[in-house]
Amino acid sequence: MKIAIGCDHGGIVLKSSVEQVLREKGVEIIDMGCVEGCSVDYPDYALKVAEAVSQGVADKGIVLCGTGIGISIAANKVKGIRAAVCHDLFTAQMCAQHNDANVLSMGGRVISAELAAKMTKVWLDTPFEGGRHTGRVDKITQIENKYFK
Ligand code: RB5
Repeated sequence: MKIAIGCDHGGIVLKSSVEQVLREKGVEIIDMGCVEGCSVDYPDYALKVAEAVSQGVADKGIVLCGTGIGISIAANKVKGIRAAVCHDLFTAQMCAQHNDANVLSMGGRVISAELAAKMTKVWLDTPFEGGRHTGRVDKITQIENKYFK
């Protein structure tokens, strides 16, 4: 599995612990930046990760900013992206299980690096449940098809 990861300066505090989990799981990491000491605009990094997932270069993506909010909003502007901002283990599990979230978003000013690592594990280990949730996710795709070029 390949995972693209990108962050701004607000999310960088989570990046190394999240990448450590990915390495332990044998995941190939596509690191889109930014780097320590940067001050950047989160939409630029959301776009890099979202395009990698949307184009099939990566299987899934992880985006990190101060709150996880801005970078998820931007990622969700790319067709095919279901980016979920999560703050705890339950939301990390549910976004995989019910929403088939292909991008996990977390905030470096909201949660600890330790929790972000645990959430990454839960998100990766939780399969999409399918069943009644398939039709709901399909309806998200229908909205995309209606409004995206
Ligand atoms: C950057 O200061 C901050 O606004 C950003 O990381 C994020 O929290 C935006 O949603």
